[in-house]
Amino acid sequence: MEDRSLKIPNHVGIIVDGNGRWAKKKGMSRSEGHSEGAKNLINLSRYIFSKGIKILSVFVFSTENFKRSKQEVDYLMNLFVTMFNQYCKDLKKENVKIVFSGRREFLPKKVLEVMDKVIKTTKDNNNGILNVCLNYGGQAEIVDATKKMIDDVLEKRIKKEEINEELFSKYLYNDLPPIDFLIRTSGELRISNFILWQLAYAELYFPKTYFPDFKEKEFDEAILEYNKRNRRFGGINYEDKNS
Ligand code: IPE
Ligand code: MG
Repeated sequence: MEDRSLKIPNHVGIIVDGNGRWAKKKGMSRSEGHSEGAKNLINLSRYIFSKGIKILSVFVFSTENFKRSKQEVDYLMNLFVTMFNQYCKDLKKENVKIVFSGRREFLPKKVLEVMDKVIKTTKDNNNGILNVCLNYGGQAEIVDATKKMIDDVLEKRIKKEEINEELFSKYLYNDLPPIDFLIRTSGELRISNFILWQLAYAELYFPKTYFPDFKEKEFDEAILEYNKRNRRFGGINYEDKNS
């Protein structure tokens, strides 16, 4: 039975990891692992939005992932095209808006085209935001934001004195609220340059499950874990003995 007293995070981040190891364990190719991971991501994101989470940021391809073999990179790029084409119609029905974070350079034209298509198709949806981090790096995002901000200062659109955390966040790829809860699957204990700015006060969770096996049940367990955390944002809860 659903527990209605559970706290539901507003913004969840997922670092998708372990597709390759999942496939290896089953004697399959890495590509099959990615394909299974992509299918799972679609089902899982649907479940996550159904739980009342408003924003889901997923790390599907880092700037550094271009270092992988051409064969693997090509496979992933084609997979993005197929999945976005398929998912686009569903997202429209489900009223979820897709945004992308990352650099457009080095992405193949066919990927950019399908990205533009889903942005356009889902732009008026208002029941949730799926932020897909593709060719994304957290440090690169801060550098790109800084450059845009410097242009605005030089062109006198803003004053240096006006710059603060709130204004800075408007220059990021997407001006999203803080991440409340970050999940990285596969047992790796790293952030790996994911959404550095909005992760500042996130609760971190590192389940051992490989991503293709991280499904509804595993997400429910994650939410239970989130509910055990005592979020203080640098303050002190004087009522709480554990503070
Ligand atoms: C994550 O799975 C998927 C992407 C980066 C697209 P990995 O490919 O990193 O899987 P492992 O870490 O090799 O198991
Ligand atoms: Mg990995």
